[in-house]
Amino acid sequence: MRVDWRVSGGGPLRGSLEVPGDKSVSHRAVMLASIADGTTRIENFLEGEDARSTAAICAQLGVVIETPRAGVRVVHGVGREGLKAAGAPLDCGNAGTGMRLLAGLLAGQSFDSELVGDGSLSRRPMARVIDPLQAMGARIEARSGGLPPLRIAGGRTLLGIDYVTPVASAQVKSAVLLAGLFAHGSTQVAEPHPTRDYTESMLRHFGYPIEFAPGFARLEGGHRMFARGLRVPGDFSAAAFWLVAASLVEGSELTIDDVGTHPRRFGLWRALQAMGGDLDSEADANRIEPSARLTVRAAPLHGLRLPVDCVPDIIDEMPALFVAAALAEGETLIEGAAELRVKESDRIAMMATALRAMGADIEERPDGVRIRGVKSLRGADVDAAGDHRCAMALAVAALRADDAVLIRDCANVATSYPGFADQLRALSATVDIFETPR
Ligand code: S3P
Repeated sequence: MRVDWRVSGGGPLRGSLEVPGDKSVSHRAVMLASIADGTTRIENFLEGEDARSTAAICAQLGVVIETPRAGVRVVHGVGREGLKAAGAPLDCGNAGTGMRLLAGLLAGQSFDSELVGDGSLSRRPMARVIDPLQAMGARIEARSGGLPPLRIAGGRTLLGIDYVTPVASAQVKSAVLLAGLFAHGSTQVAEPHPTRDYTESMLRHFGYPIEFAPGFARLEGGHRMFARGLRVPGDFSAAAFWLVAASLVEGSELTIDDVGTHPRRFGLWRALQAMGGDLDSEADANRIEPSARLTVRAAPLHGLRLPVDCVPDIIDEMPALFVAAALAEGETLIEGAAELRVKESDRIAMMATALRAMGADIEERPDGVRIRGVKSLRGADVDAAGDHRCAMALAVAALRADDAVLIRDCANVATSYPGFADQLRALSATVDIFETPR
């Protein structure tokens, strides 16, 4: 089904809301619970297609996973030798995290596997995980150019590796560490810039001995993990859209409860503060990951020159940041963000084209954008190119347009934030949804 949205802004966004469970944490929770000994109850699991695809794959590999109610998974772990051949391709859907992490997990199993994905995922680079996994002894075949599907041979003997990731990527680091669980000896990963360490803290949560610090992780293969319940924090990447929306729409004040505030995910918060955003946070105690109640009020924003070393901490929130910058006073310069071109879409090109059609002053660079803020945007017909984060960012931009914005190809919002359009409608906007068979 093809889904298009027509969004027009209403009044200020006021009140409190919750965002869905974190996508990165949900993927890791279900994967690691699957190979732990015993039964893990996961609360606030993301009910989005990406995390569900990973859970479905774990089930195909022989793990019994119950869903007593929405947002809860009870995973009956099969232990480190318990996964079984699926006998059919494993469909990661739209999820790059699912495919890259599973490649690591499956590289050291006794059976063959095949990982497939949708059209967008089938265009995303996998050499970044294939190369280090092959260096550990794995055998992985891909389409030419290192594109999915990935055929992973079973029965390989893996050896630990001392790996320096060429790009700052939590997915690459995690794939190597997950393969390292099944490798002989020690596996060590160092990063050019520290990235989210959810895999490392989740391994520790399940009792796996691991040493880690920002930008560094080391483990020995061969240990077991033990089931232990956990609650997934709200997804900061989902909260990001509301932080920008409430900053931009006059009179707004929103509170968002239980949002993950991992420092390597929190770059948009820091950028909005630097742009003059009116933001408060109140930390929650006793969570597996740091989390907080976030409050945002409308404020006049000004442009910023984003330091290049801040980019990895804000990589998923760039579409939202582009929207904030498009309506901020003065100029914003973002460089060193070429990774945006290999996300679910080429986010630099897609966002620049769409925002320009809405009257923004935005210049595309090979590795970023230069944006000069304007006072308001105009109605337009724009394409989200099947990219969930572009669709939601453009819906936020539409709140400041003088006429309705038609945003095409929004179905993939269901991969990370199925309730977004309903929440937007309840808070402020008019959102008409048009569904047509593909
Ligand atoms: C993720 C890591 C990041 C991020 C992605 C989720 C993860 O990707 O963009 O949305 O869960 O590890 P990279 O590792 O490619 O930077």
